Amino acid sequence: QTLDMELEAIEKGGYEHFMLKEIFEQPRAIGDCMRGRLSANEGRLVLGGIREYANKLVNAERIIIVACGTSWHSGLVAEYFFEEFCRIPVEVEYASEFRYRNPVINEGDVVFAISQSGETADTLAAIELAKSKGAIIFGVCNVVGSSISRISHEGAYTHAGPEIGVASTKAFTAQLTVLNMIALRVAHQKGTITERRYHELLVELENIPAKVEKALKLDDQIKAISERFQNARNFIYLGRGYNFPVALEGALKLKEISYIHAEGYPAAEMKHGPIALIDEEMPVVFIATRDSSYDKVVSNIQEVKARKGKVIAVVTEGDALIPQMAEFVIEVPKTDEALMPMVSVIPLQLLSYHIAVMRGCNVDQPRNLAKSVTVE
Ligand code: G6P
Repeated sequence: QTLDMELEAIEKGGYEHFMLKEIFEQPRAIGDCMRGRLSANEGRLVLGGIREYANKLVNAERIIIVACGTSWHSGLVAEYFFEEFCRIPVEVEYASEFRYRNPVINEGDVVFAISQSGETADTLAAIELAKSKGAIIFGVCNVVGSSISRISHEGAYTHAGPEIGVASTKAFTAQLTVLNMIALRVAHQKGTITERRYHELLVELENIPAKVEKALKLDDQIKAISERFQNARNFIYLGRGYNFPVALEGALKLKEISYIHAEGYPAAEMKHGPIALIDEEMPVVFIATRDSSYDKVVSNIQEVKARKGKVIAVVTEGDALIPQMAEFVIEVPKTDEALMPMVSVIPLQLLSYHIAVMRGCNVDQPRNLAKSVTVE
């Protein structure tokens, strides 16, 4: 018993929980994921696991992404950059819905399966179905040798290292890293991205671990915000564009480990429902970094303020406008809009972590949840 406890303490590497350790491992995990694959200096982007079928991907008429939970959220981000860079239409599907829907799959369709564990039953079944109809399967898994990685035609590992905390953190940012590299590689071969933007993004990708490292320094500030909101009963998370899936992921993290009801929404959809929930009690987290939807998000913040909601805003460093409106402002380093989710999600992971700890929840093993769901 004591030996087990000591072993666990060693495994946690001085952190109180696996989740916190894994949140702080992200600069390294993202770096490991790019190692040997990307060199901005040499303009090199090589993915060893994508060879024989690379042309199928480049010529794909559409991409279908299947996943569950947090992995589904990285699929949503990937939809934005695959469409933007590669000009290939993308559909992102919950594996559990896809598999039972008699979906239209054609010979040669490209299906991406995203899964940390590589063992999720619904995702596995969705792949089997797509494969039986002649689709080409690319797996994006963290666990080496997992079932999904074995039944995929090709794929790329995330190399984030073992993730023990039930709530996924480093696997998410590593999935985004891999999917970004794949999209850039395809876009470059297809010629749907300018040489200049391609290089810009390679350089920016290489800078992400340092920016995540910087975002992690916000920990104390986020702890203070968590204290203020630890007793909230509801939360709303809003974002647009690349930050919309981040809003969903922020809300999921909070639900999973603190048991506070939270909803993530595209900020513009707020007026079609969630705005009715806003009163002086309601914390609203905006992911409002400087990007093409910034001005729109600012007006959404004003709408929440007009209804006395309490705004917590994740903004880009140096933002002068939003601090005049929001109760709490969290500044993250600037990066390309397409890569921002890897940075903007960090404070949301920390917020859910600290709130859950303050509420006395079992952060690493939340009630009713499993790390990998191998049954239906
Ligand atoms: C479970 C976990 C989540 C995870 C989801 C998908 O619900 O608790 O953290 O995102 O499964 O898992 P996968 O291993 O397929 O990414």
